[in-house]
Amino acid sequence: MSRTRVLIVDDEPDMVENCARILGKGGHDCLTATGGRRALALLESERPDLLITDLKMPELDGMELLRRARELDPALPVIVITAFATIESAVAAVKEGAFDYLPKNFSVDQLRVAVERALRHRGLQVENRNLREQLQQALGLDNIIGRSPAMTQVFELVRKAARSEANILVLGESGTGKELIARAIHANSPRAARAFVPVDCASLPEQLLESELFGHEKGAFTGAVRSKPGLMEVAHLGTLFLDEIAELSPALQVKLLRALQERQIRRVGGTSLVDVDVRVVSATNRDLREAIAKGRFREELYYRVNVIAIQLPPLRERAGDAKLLAHAFLKKYGLGRVTGIGDDAMAALEGYGWPGNVRELQNIIERACALAEGETVTRRDLPEHVLAPLVAPPPAAGAAPTERALTAGAELPLKDAKERWMLVLEAAYLRDLLDRHDGNISAAAKAAGIDRKTFHRLINKYQLR
Ligand SMILES: Nc1ncnc2c1ncn2[C@@H]1O[C@H](COP(=O)(O)OP(=O)(O)OP(=O)(O)O)[C@@H](O)[C@H]1O
Ligand SMILES: [Mg+2]
Repeated sequence: MSRTRVLIVDDEPDMVENCARILGKGGHDCLTATGGRRALALLESERPDLLITDLKMPELDGMELLRRARELDPALPVIVITAFATIESAVAAVKEGAFDYLPKNFSVDQLRVAVERALRHRGLQVENRNLREQLQQALGLDNIIGRSPAMTQVFELVRKAARSEANILVLGESGTGKELIARAIHANSPRAARAFVPVDCASLPEQLLESELFGHEKGAFTGAVRSKPGLMEVAHLGTLFLDEIAELSPALQVKLLRALQERQIRRVGGTSLVDVDVRVVSATNRDLREAIAKGRFREELYYRVNVIAIQLPPLRERAGDAKLLAHAFLKKYGLGRVTGIGDDAMAALEGYGWPGNVRELQNIIERACALAEGETVTRRDLPEHVLAPLVAPPPAAGAAPTERALTAGAELPLKDAKERWMLVLEAAYLRDLLDRHDGNISAAAKAAGIDRKTFHRLINKYQLR
């Protein structure tokens, strides 16, 4: 292992020299500073592996130095040195991200142990970061399957759009791969080494989502026992993925718009502003223009998040891709045991309409692999509705549970017919419920006695909006 570099900062020159002598003997290269400003300059120019700093210093105190140091290098371990009388400030420093603290009268051994631990931690962090980078490469475009002209166009646009800093809106039906594309955008962007932070705007009620996004200060509301940074802060310098953005409440739309315009946020219950530099990728399966027309979505926010729109085609419009995807999923779920798809079964898969798109195909292949007796998937391993598409497919927008749809199952065994009727009835029930609650998902979900997330999934399944 190459020699590690330790920066030691204290306003007492004796202290600094002492530390440097001890650590120098242990094989570390030591840089020293007796003031915060000099220390900052060394941090920037020398990029040490570890920072040891006194907390109380005249010009720029250890706390501030700690904060700046972690901004420069989030993986930098920091050990603070503190007099016993100020143990609280040591604890505060640890909360701010210090790795450890030492009392002012530390022993040689204490110092050595703390330094070794911190450097080991640093090694792990760097290793993790490398792993993360490798993973991000794996999340690039290569593993998004598709060779149809429609998808080739998408890939080209993704590549171009990713390079820019522009905010991107990914559009497409449920299960078309919007999240996958969002991750690929991040992985191919200049921000790839930073965080990709997904936020599901549909899964939380307004207040929780607000504190999730913007963070909160201790005591901001009952239950806020400690302050917490919001996901926008976590995504600083990285990418914020706003999934199901159409579900944001009007109040949060306003707040988000302001944050994006000003590049600053205020935690819930907080007074100071925090700088945030995020690239926003959003996704929705709703028609935002229609939502704007109905007064449900703010036009200014729409333009802010939709600098470049990427429209994902439904699977039924991707010629040849269903076959490619089916084989890819077979590799994944067949586990070497199931290795082929029979011609009849493939013909059924290629002829099906895929209202649930790639996710539905993935589920069906997983199920087929579990059911297959031999090494080939046959028609028997596919669900009935894939083999004989519904006369009135429930997922088609606006489909009503007509009598025809209800009697259409007569040629099927009762069990399969029942399954089909259930789909039709469930869609009708949900549509009715939504109408009755003026499209308010929270209220409708409550009335149905199911949680918001499940309700939302059902809406997507039946494309009810
Ligand atoms: N082109 C593709 N190649 C391989 N896997 C894909 C592709 N598209 C989607 N998938 C897989 O299908 C599943 C659904 O994709 P994803 O979650 O990105 O869809 P989505 O559009 O966000 O759906 P929803 O609107 O329901 O949230 C995931 O498991 C994803 O890995
Ligand atoms: Mg999604």
